[in-house]
Amino acid sequence: MDKLGQLNQQLVNDIEKAATLQEVEDLRISALGKKGTLTLLMKDLGQMSPDERRVMGAELNALKDVLSAALDQRKAQLANEVLASRLASETLDVSLPPRPSPSGKVHPLSHVLDQAIHIFGQMGFALAEGPDIEEDFYNFTALNIPPEHPARQEQDTFYLPVASDGQPLVLRTHTSPVQIRTMQNTPPPLRIIAPGRTYRSDDLDATHAPMFHQIEGLVIDKQTHMGHLKGCLEEFCRLFFEDPELKLRFRPGYFPFTEPSAEVDILWNNTTWLEILGCGMVHPNVLQNCGIDPAIYQGFAFGMGLERITMLKYGIEDLRLIYESDLRWLNHYGFAPEARE
Ligand code: DAH
Repeated sequence: MDKLGQLNQQLVNDIEKAATLQEVEDLRISALGKKGTLTLLMKDLGQMSPDERRVMGAELNALKDVLSAALDQRKAQLANEVLASRLASETLDVSLPPRPSPSGKVHPLSHVLDQAIHIFGQMGFALAEGPDIEEDFYNFTALNIPPEHPARQEQDTFYLPVASDGQPLVLRTHTSPVQIRTMQNTPPPLRIIAPGRTYRSDDLDATHAPMFHQIEGLVIDKQTHMGHLKGCLEEFCRLFFEDPELKLRFRPGYFPFTEPSAEVDILWNNTTWLEILGCGMVHPNVLQNCGIDPAIYQGFAFGMGLERITMLKYGIEDLRLIYESDLRWLNHYGFAPEARE
């Protein structure tokens, strides 16, 4: 074997023995790199006679092809081995439990609203909505609260600039205007609840806030009476507070839009009566204001504070905490998202 042949054999042996991709690469550089053995031999071709060059050139090119093929082959072999060993070692155990991922909590107010919608929904109540910015007419006048009525002052209204069509506007002081909007738009019988934000010019303290939430209820039908009102609210309170024995007390009260009116207390821990809502039979004037004949239809209505029942049910002592968005508080008082009904 000539010198070139020996060199060739030596390089091919080395390549076949290379144990890593790096070793293959090093061998490629040492033979075919800028200063590689074969590259230098090719450079010498320039000093040879044309005849010598033809013979040597052909031989060197053939050698280069052999080496390139050997390098490629070994490279592919090693890459396959690397892949095979990774596939063997990096198995995925699909039976392992997932890592716990931090999840957000549902605010107690949203949770209570979900519960109320669910309970009333089962009793056949549909959801109704109205605007936060309300016309004076819907917030007061149509609810049998004339302009000079003291109830307007009692409610500490936020007044807004008069609308372009001359309508006086307010931030609604209660959800009761949704009663009017619903009665005007939908013929009876009716059975709705209307949850939403309400506003009063109060200071923020442990029991008051300038913005809070109410849930309004309205039932209009041909034979509705106080017994239905009591039964409905009793059912709701017992389901909501998860106490089938919960005692309710209906105290005579006054609201311009209901007659008779009552305030409802629940007996808390069998010791204290706590007021939780206002209610009554819809005043005939209110029905008339909405184009409903009070000789044919009667109904009942109620309104309760969402914050109030949330604080009672979950033992939240200070109203301000509900609005503070303190994540530590939310983690403690909030509910897992899957608990949403
Ligand atoms: N709107 C009353 C309030 O904000 C609550 C209320 C009382 C609503 C009696 C009613 C009702 O629908 O019948 O204080």
